[in-house]
Amino acid sequence: MRREQSSLRTPSLSLGRFKPLFKVMKKFYITTPIYYVNDRVHIGHSYTTVAADVLARYHRLKGKRTFFLVGTDEHGEKIEKVARNLGETPKQLCDKNSLFFKKAWQSLNISYDSFLRTTEKNHIKAVQKVLDVLYRKKFIYKGVYKGLYCLGCEQYKTKSDLVRGRCPQHQTKPKMMREESYLFRLSKFKDILENKIKNEEFKIRPKERKNEVLGFLKNGLQDISISREKVKWGIPLPFDKKMTCYVWLDAFLNYLTGLGWKGDPKKIPDFWPPDLQLMSKDIIRVHATIWPALLLALDIPLPRQLFVHGYFTVEGQKMSKSLMNVIFPEEMIKKFGVDSTRYLLLSTCPFGKDGDVSWQKFEGKYNSDLAKGLGNLVARVITLVKNSKFQIPNPRQITNPKLQAEINKTWEDYQKALDEFKLNEVLVSIWDLISFCDKYIEKERPWEEVKSAGWRKKEVIGNLLFALDNIAKLLQPFLPETSEKIFKQLKTRKSKPLFPRI
Ligand code: MSP
Repeated sequence: MRREQSSLRTPSLSLGRFKPLFKVMKKFYITTPIYYVNDRVHIGHSYTTVAADVLARYHRLKGKRTFFLVGTDEHGEKIEKVARNLGETPKQLCDKNSLFFKKAWQSLNISYDSFLRTTEKNHIKAVQKVLDVLYRKKFIYKGVYKGLYCLGCEQYKTKSDLVRGRCPQHQTKPKMMREESYLFRLSKFKDILENKIKNEEFKIRPKERKNEVLGFLKNGLQDISISREKVKWGIPLPFDKKMTCYVWLDAFLNYLTGLGWKGDPKKIPDFWPPDLQLMSKDIIRVHATIWPALLLALDIPLPRQLFVHGYFTVEGQKMSKSLMNVIFPEEMIKKFGVDSTRYLLLSTCPFGKDGDVSWQKFEGKYNSDLAKGLGNLVARVITLVKNSKFQIPNPRQITNPKLQAEINKTWEDYQKALDEFKLNEVLVSIWDLISFCDKYIEKERPWEEVKSAGWRKKEVIGNLLFALDNIAKLLQPFLPETSEKIFKQLKTRKSKPLFPRI
């Protein structure tokens, strides 16, 4: 776990203008889904986590008290089954695979504050306490539950969820389950949820996802089974120890226990509620129904906002282990490096839409945007400084109004786009600034007079250094190591290739 602290580097002209635009909030609490440990980390999981990392870093740099939670979802039938097939105990599988997730996040430079595992003692105790409270408050009752169950999703499905009788995510036929069960009174919360989503007290973005949820709610909500009789690998219900807790209920509570919560609804951690919860489309429905209903039943404030991004697809199919079309982050890191991988993931498509990925596309983008674009600009400017006979001081101001306007505009767009989680657009606008600088160099041709120490060329190089300093600042949350390297090159004036061509 790595963290950088405090405000965005040295104050600059542009930053001065950037600050007052910012809505002041004291804290920022951001979460990702906790991933199932039966899966190996692929770039779909990495996408959500890198995006969350960028936003966490951004808010930290702005001086907010920030908490960034990640973790692994370790109970349930699916994990029990995979462990059995591997000849391992579920615990062994969980220990091994949660470590893979931790390692992957380390190698992607993810600055999380806490990594929660649902098999931790504190979490288990808190879940049991919650179950007790809900049972006492009569939000949980005993009954019989019958329905089609998709193991891949660990969710009951209705007929309308299926395509030709199969789960569209996993391409498998769900099985009919009929169990004596404890049920949670989800149906009670339909109206209140509908209202809170409509009036944006509980915000869901992008808008089309909000509409999807409202459409789904219109048909009403059914009570859900929260117990499993046959699943051993789960948290025992405190009021009926033969049963274990439904994995989703257990998993949702991670967003509270990850802050050290012990399960008492009256003692809520001070980072609560989440300012932003990131996820993809596959799990928005449960996050927009079961999750807030649980909180309402416990009298705990709802998260402020859910943001739902799209899928990484391969030739149009969702990337997932079950479809065997995954790319692993370590392969990308090996080929492109850490920051390049972060860049390639986030620049694939607008955040909120699906994006088709392939090695070929990644390579093309690496060469054009990183090797040729950013890497080349930094190398050119630092070489100009190195080759010039005269001293070029660290610039405090800029003398070209057009370049200055471009830098200011980039900061303003940056702010707005980051507040709306348009991560891909932010990168596009930084890269617009990079190509503006390229054109500025071509127009001014500062190398021609470098040796004769012409004052104008000195000014041009000074302006470029100023622009590079800003580019490095803009890049901080996205490419933290590259940003440091650029600052270092600006200081030492020694050029070192940032992104060798592939
Ligand atoms: N364990 C549950 C979440 C519980 S949260 C209380 C779960 N786990 S999961 O391992 O299946 O992760 C799903 C999430 O992984 C998605 O919502 C998304 O964040 C990420 N992604 C997995 N595959 C992805 C793509 N192909 N594309 C984009 N994101 C992907 O559901």
